[in-house]
Amino acid sequence: MNDVAASPCPATRPALLGLQDVRVHYPMGTDWLGRPKAVAHALNGIDLDVQAGETLGIVGESGCGKSTLAQLLMGLIKPTAGKLDWVYRNDSERSNHVQIVFQDPQSSLDPRLPVWKIITEPLFVQGRMPRREMREIAAKVATQVGIRTEYLDRYPHQFSGGQRQRIAIARALSSDPDIIVLDEPTSALDISVQAQILNLLSELQRKRGLTYILISHNVSVVRHMAERVAVMYLGQIVELGSAAQVLEHPRHPYTQLLLEAVPRLGVSVDDAHASAPTELPGNRNLPTGCFFRDRCPKATLGCDQPQALLPARASGGAEHVRCHLEAQA
Ligand SMILES: Nc1ncnc2c1ncn2[C@@H]1O[C@H](COP(=O)(O)OP(=O)(O)OP(=O)(O)O)[C@@H](O)[C@H]1O
Ligand code: SF4
Ligand SMILES: [Mg+2]
Repeated sequence: MNDVAASPCPATRPALLGLQDVRVHYPMGTDWLGRPKAVAHALNGIDLDVQAGETLGIVGESGCGKSTLAQLLMGLIKPTAGKLDWVYRNDSERSNHVQIVFQDPQSSLDPRLPVWKIITEPLFVQGRMPRREMREIAAKVATQVGIRTEYLDRYPHQFSGGQRQRIAIARALSSDPDIIVLDEPTSALDISVQAQILNLLSELQRKRGLTYILISHNVSVVRHMAERVAVMYLGQIVELGSAAQVLEHPRHPYTQLLLEAVPRLGVSVDDAHASAPTELPGNRNLPTGCFFRDRCPKATLGCDQPQALLPARASGGAEHVRCHLEAQA
């Protein structure tokens, strides 16, 4: 669990999806004129490319916008501003090219449905399909995730936590998506099962050329799985680069603080939950200048200006950072 994933040059893979200056703002309540009383600024200018076949880790403390980003990629919410462009899609007519595996398979699987129906849920979006064909697809993906086909008529409560997460993975696979968002995929599981699920995910990625977006508080898991890592703070990406660089030699002061709160390499998965270095400021009124300015130990002149995500100095353009001390002038 403590090895750093091999990290090919971050720019070598073709882009699948590009986000440009994407913002998601939620109006909160309304006054007597129907105007929003406040606005939650969940995403505040996300620039990101998702590359075909990669595992992109997303880290950042609770409330920084990770799940909002996942919902956006899944098409469940629309950007308030900015652009989200699919560069490549293997079928432009399909609506379910992004699927998700949630943290807790206990609550994410409908207890009233037999496993084969759960697995084929995403196919209902695509329209009617004969029952026999659905069962065939369910059997195929169940086998791929290590669930025996004779269990397809059983119900979720008849499985262990690890098996339920395998069923959730099978459900994500059944519509043959390009991208799977993994939102804390192992944090609700026993430690003994976590590594099995991560290995299964790696194997499926190799066999099917899947792209993963891995959201996790657990830096060990990200280190093990991801090739690139994006670090989020208050709805922005503050650092983006190869997992080896970002997690071993972080450049942004926030990433440095976040990782200082995590035990070093060589610890088991359960010890490695990042505790937030400080509490995230409210997102109703965004700070001016650098969003991290109030807490940054390195804050100096120039930090009162808005910061852009720019190539880091001495990184050859591969790493990006939102801090004028580290970015190329
Ligand atoms: N439906 C909503 N209505 C209003 N505000 C929302 C809504 N969804 C998210 N937000 C706001 O967006 C911010 C980001 O939420 P999000 O769920 O994306 O964070 P997260 O990084 O996934 O957190 P966690 O690690 O706890 O899952 C929250 O602080 C919240 O204020
Ligand atoms: S821009 Fe300034 S406040 Fe922001 S992270 Fe860099 S040094 Fe800290
Ligand atoms: Mg979340």
